[in-house]
Amino acid sequence: MSESRTTGGHPERTEFHDTRAWIRAIASVTGAAGALDTVTGAAGALDTVTGAAGALEVRDTPTALFLDWLTDAVEAGVVEPHAATLSTVDEAGAPDARFLLLKDVTDRGFWFSGDTRSPKGVELERDPRAALTFYWREAGRQVRVRGVVENGGEGVSARDFLERSVTARAVATVSRQSEVLADPEEYDRLVAAAVDRIDGEPDFVSETWRAWCLVPDTVEFWQADPGRRHLRHRYARAASGWTVDQLWP
Ligand SMILES: Cc1cc2nc3c(=O)[nH]c(=O)nc-3n(C[C@H](O)[C@H](O)[C@H](O)COP(=O)(O)O)c2cc1C
Repeated sequence: MSESRTTGGHPERTEFHDTRAWIRAIASVTGAAGALDTVTGAAGALDTVTGAAGALEVRDTPTALFLDWLTDAVEAGVVEPHAATLSTVDEAGAPDARFLLLKDVTDRGFWFSGDTRSPKGVELERDPRAALTFYWREAGRQVRVRGVVENGGEGVSARDFLERSVTARAVATVSRQSEVLADPEEYDRLVAAAVDRIDGEPDFVSETWRAWCLVPDTVEFWQADPGRRHLRHRYARAASGWTVDQLWP
């Protein structure tokens, strides 16, 4: 099986043996590295709501429709179409949100990963209700997933960790994510030591790395219409299967 076949530089879904392998092949972290104060992005006229109008095709399950839409987004050349905003609530009930990468979509739900010691990990432990939000500008589409996050289990977490680069594994292992970094040299020192450890112990898995699955209660699909007659459909979990309602835009 070739994992290098692409459509316009993007991986073709049919070339992959499963959804996870396909999502993994989508390019990520394409932005330029460097100091944060450079802000080189070119501004331009914001051409909003560019998506094609038309009837929204409904599938039996929201995950099937999501995968159709993710495929369309890949083919439309959306950069990092697997990046999504994960929203959680903190101890005081205040919302918190950050981007992360979608790792898989299964019948169970939407998979992502991170560290259990991080604020998101602590928040999810306290209150597993969460939302994932996708925006695919070139396709004029948004998807909003709401539900409850479950621990994906040791096996999936370990596989996800081991698929990361050595440096990414080292950073994940030593990072006190989102705490104040008072001494950048300590960062360099700890990452270098962790790289050495992982080089000598390639099966090492950080105990705090976690694959999570957002099990959806509702999934809303928003399709832009250039004439502003946007289409919205919301799937809601029912006793058996899903109900689908169209929503006012
Ligand atoms: C495009 C993109 C992808 C990211 N992917 C992940 C990811 O898969 N897992 C993760 O823990 N953080 C990821 N991050 C970093 C998070 O946005 C965030 O900074 C970090 O997880 C700490 O969040 P917290 O303090 O809310 O726990 C990503 C950031 C960006 C911009």
